[in-house]
Amino acid sequence: MTFDTKVLPVKRDSISFKDGADYPTVEDSQTLLSLQEAARILTTTDDVVGFPTETVYGLGGSALSDESVKSIYRAKNRPADNPLITHISSIDQLHRKVLGPNDEIPEIYKPLILKFWPGPLSILLPVSKDSHISKLTTANQPTFAVRMPAHPVARALIAISDTPLAAPSANASTRPSPTLAQHVYHDLQGRIPLILDGGASNVGVESTVIDGLCDPPMLLRPGGVSLEQIKEFGGPEWENVVIAKKTLGKSEAVRTPGMKYRHYSPSAKVVLFNGCGNGVEAVQKYISQNDLQSLKIALLKTFQFEDQPNLVTKDLGSTLASVSANLFKLLREADEIDQVDYIFVEAIDINNEGLAVMNRLLKLASEIVGDANILQ
Ligand code: TXA
Ligand code: MG
Repeated sequence: MTFDTKVLPVKRDSISFKDGADYPTVEDSQTLLSLQEAARILTTTDDVVGFPTETVYGLGGSALSDESVKSIYRAKNRPADNPLITHISSIDQLHRKVLGPNDEIPEIYKPLILKFWPGPLSILLPVSKDSHISKLTTANQPTFAVRMPAHPVARALIAISDTPLAAPSANASTRPSPTLAQHVYHDLQGRIPLILDGGASNVGVESTVIDGLCDPPMLLRPGGVSLEQIKEFGGPEWENVVIAKKTLGKSEAVRTPGMKYRHYSPSAKVVLFNGCGNGVEAVQKYISQNDLQSLKIALLKTFQFEDQPNLVTKDLGSTLASVSANLFKLLREADEIDQVDYIFVEAIDINNEGLAVMNRLLKLASEIVGDANILQ
């Protein structure tokens, strides 16, 4: 099926959830119309829509409907054995629409939900026999992942449609996750009817996925909430949280099904420079050893690297939060606009936001120059 993809602007600041309400107040009438149009598509058709979240743009369809979830997989070209995260607008909606009447949220999650919802934290819950969630959303797993997004547009869309949304990142499979509506348009134009444009996703990497159903609990995917924050606010049970194996490595089968697929992959070859000082010597040596003098190269720098002649330099910013917010956007820019052959990226420490950033970078890098060990 082909669509004439519409991009509708929405003003995030015109939406509020007053006094802890589960339903939004929308001051701007155009924004309300756009949200209602997206809600109409989600509730009356099997089609899916692109929408902003605080992490990355999502591609949403009803998590309760097999046909809607099939539309997500089809639009993205995503393998159907990779489970999707369900997005809710309130805990009340989670109970009413997704869980069975006797299902409870396990106690271990309560402090984290209190602190980080709405926000970039996805938790695993058991799929009970009374659950309404589609088996295609969970890829037949005995558990499903759920989060309440903080972006007012995402939360308002889910509340107005009163539809829990299965929503992977709204990129074509293997492309970097989108942090702008135009990234979604670039990848999915003609494949979906509508994209809500609510500006840039400010976190820039996907949500953290945690599993509190096992003992000790596990961090399955590092993301917008850091490991340090989970340990600090989760209570005693989270002090021993285990990081899923290969969070910072490659290959090897892992617990998180999605991790086995090649994600976030630009067309250019990505080379990661780790512990290489100001970068000048290491970069110039790499160029001459590999005969890259006539090729187009982008340099994504973080804290120490210097600009270098003949390289298209892009600055990821001077805080961990800005590196995380800019990473996918600059990868896409280098790839899609500058059309470089190589992207060189400066590695960062794995503290705080650094863990999620390095997890993404190690997945897309085809080579590491410098110290490969401190990453393990
Ligand atoms: O920030 C985000 O989470 C974004 C935005 C759009 O909200 N969404 C997102 O969804 O990243 P997605 O579908 O790309 O991420 C799904 C990942 C899977 O690859 C897997 O790692 C994990 O979440 N996941 C989902 N359900 C799971 C389950 N039952 N068991 C283990 N891991 C699961
Ligand atoms: Mg994704």
